[in-house]
Amino acid sequence: MSSETRYHPGADMQGFIRELMEFSGLDETDVATIRRTAPVILRHERDITSALYEHFLKFPTTARFFLRDDGTPDQQRLDRRKHSLGRWLRETAEVSMTHDFVYYLLGVALSHSHRATGPGGTVPPQFMVATMSLAQTTFARLFQAELSDLQEAFDASLAWNKLLLIHLNALLLGYFLPQRQA
Ligand code: HEM
Repeated sequence: MSSETRYHPGADMQGFIRELMEFSGLDETDVATIRRTAPVILRHERDITSALYEHFLKFPTTARFFLRDDGTPDQQRLDRRKHSLGRWLRETAEVSMTHDFVYYLLGVALSHSHRATGPGGTVPPQFMVATMSLAQTTFARLFQAELSDLQEAFDASLAWNKLLLIHLNALLLGYFLPQRQA
């Protein structure tokens, strides 16, 4: 089903992702590059997830999702979020766009755009975009620092950038749904 068909992409997530992969030129070579270079990212999973949540805590607009009523960081919530982000990172690195995976992505999208419980309300879409920007920067720096072949580092950054923005497209889908009335 192409996106010209007037269904919400959520009705055919695999078609939606496939079309974007083709459009972005994320081909088999990129997929192989992503899988080959994934260990560079995954061996830093803990540092990456911790640094991201520390970054969120620096800004009131993003910190509010992770604070207790008394304004202190909710460590349990932060640990759960780091764990979820780690899972997303590991599964992303597999580039396996199965039915289960693409609907997992849609579920993650809705847990940001249609968040029903917890402090902070729904996550503003601009922070989803900005967070993917942080991920791109972090990954590119890791490739530059840890891959001795600069061409490989460049290819890895290009391939991961394509993949991350396809994920971002999926993560923004919930924001295009009509919001439920209170
Ligand atoms: C690259 C962008 C992001 C990714 C890949 C990501 C990933 C995830 C994942 C995998 C989950 C678990 C979802 C589930 O189990 O259903 C989650 C939940 C959550 N994320 Fe994110 N996240 C991103 C951006 C953000 C931002 C910018 C914020 C806010 C500053 C945020 C706040 C949250 C919160 C509060 C939850 C819990 C949702 C709930 O209450 O169920 N995330 N995220």
